[in-house]
Amino acid sequence: MNFNEHDIADRLSGRFIGNRVHFLREVDSTNIYAFKLAREGAPDGTVVIADCQTKGKGRMSRTWQSPPGRNIYTSIILRPSVEPAVAPQITLASGVAVAELLSEYCPADVTLKWPNDVLIKGKKACGILTEMRTAGEQVDFVIVGIGVNIGMKKDEFHEEFRDSSTSLNEEVGKNVSRLDFAIRLYESLEKWYNKFLSEGFSPIKDEWLKYSGIIGKNIKVALRDDIQVGEAIGIDEYGALLILNGEKRTRRVIAGDVSLTGD
Ligand code: BTN
Repeated sequence: MNFNEHDIADRLSGRFIGNRVHFLREVDSTNIYAFKLAREGAPDGTVVIADCQTKGKGRMSRTWQSPPGRNIYTSIILRPSVEPAVAPQITLASGVAVAELLSEYCPADVTLKWPNDVLIKGKKACGILTEMRTAGEQVDFVIVGIGVNIGMKKDEFHEEFRDSSTSLNEEVGKNVSRLDFAIRLYESLEKWYNKFLSEGFSPIKDEWLKYSGIIGKNIKVALRDDIQVGEAIGIDEYGALLILNGEKRTRRVIAGDVSLTGD
């Protein structure tokens, strides 16, 4: 068993993301833990990683299935000097980082579903939940929480997600080491985060669009009772989804669940 703090920290030595590693056998949520650490002053690039979560958080107040010995649950503390409106770009950059890495295991089968789901053959293998704290007009810190299904077996997913979720091992037909995957994940995140800091959102957006499975398709975006339908035509410079509705007007969507309408 080499999924532990020592081996992870050792392999990340000298890197920015992972310059501090907090490994927990069990935690309520790595996002909650990382948020507390960040509030107490943990440095930029600190990572929290756990073997299991008892209250894994998903988007829209959902829970994220987090059994032990199976998957990756990690949260990264970032302290970019940007305005809060720019923070969604970091979520999309993280999605690109995961998509690029998963593509090395499953070439041509990986897509991104706005805003932050990474799919393999159309099934969700990774979710990203970004939270932040602001200080005046600036971001104080961003917590990028990433859950990647590595070893979940099909029958272990809750019934409602069984047909729409997958794991890396199920897709590649062999056991991928969680330690190796976690190290490669942090390396990929560092690459795309540095690109974002030095070149801005444009290269992230280009890459995101290459992986996007929805652009040019008719979609439905549901946010509680509000449903928007139309053709997905792109994302704007803040990472909002742009859809062209029936009246040929472009609508900007900043949150919601996307599904294809199939027409
Ligand atoms: C989603 O709903 O798609 C987002 C899921 C994000 C899950 C990850 S697991 C690590 C981190 N800690 C949490 O409590 N949630 C995120």
